[in-house]
Amino acid sequence: MRVNLSICPKETEGAGNRSKMVIYHSNSPKDTQRLAAKIARETESGVILLEGELGAGKTTFVQAFARALGVKAKVKSPTFNIIKKYKIPFRSNGYSLMAIRYLYHIDCYRLKDHKEAIPLGIQDVFSAAGGPASGGKASQSVVLIEWPERISKVLPKKRIRVHIDHIDKNKRKITISNF
Ligand SMILES: Nc1ncnc2c1ncn2[C@@H]1O[C@H](COP(=O)(O)OP(=O)(O)O)[C@@H](O)[C@H]1O
Ligand SMILES: [Mg+2]
Repeated sequence: MRVNLSICPKETEGAGNRSKMVIYHSNSPKDTQRLAAKIARETESGVILLEGELGAGKTTFVQAFARALGVKAKVKSPTFNIIKKYKIPFRSNGYSLMAIRYLYHIDCYRLKDHKEAIPLGIQDVFSAAGGPASGGKASQSVVLIEWPERISKVLPKKRIRVHIDHIDKNKRKITISNF
């Protein structure tokens, strides 16, 4: 998955050499939505983990991400059905048609562990996003996961991690890293 981690360079605090990391200070839901939309436009396929306590802004991030990709449906947290799949309309980035066709929104809040995720077909979702299980198939999905800690044992190694810390009512510290 390619995501340009040089987003918002002015707001970058620390960029390690080995694992790239950027810190973004969000002062409002709009700020978080803008960041999510920007990442969505730079994303091809892959897995994005969204970490943070209840009310941190994980679903807010996914909604803006989906909207930026042209998803028309209203994105709600799939707390009860766990996995929700959205079709992404064909679109162009100005040069060529973008390859990703589906966005999966997964909310593991209600899962005890990865054993409960396997019967839901989580591994097929990950293979649609690329990675070793895809057997060379073109990656055509992007997968955003809330509460990924719950299924850490089955998460693909290649992923982007978005960690949202609640600072105060409207402020969030968002740490993005790719490892
Ligand atoms: N800077 C911010 N970024 C994201 N959400 C924020 C921010 N400030 C306030 N909020 C509010 O916090 C709530 C986050 O809720 P939600 O996205 O459902 O969180 P989660 O999915 O992490 O439980 C929303 O009501 C949103 O409007
Ligand atoms: Mg949520």
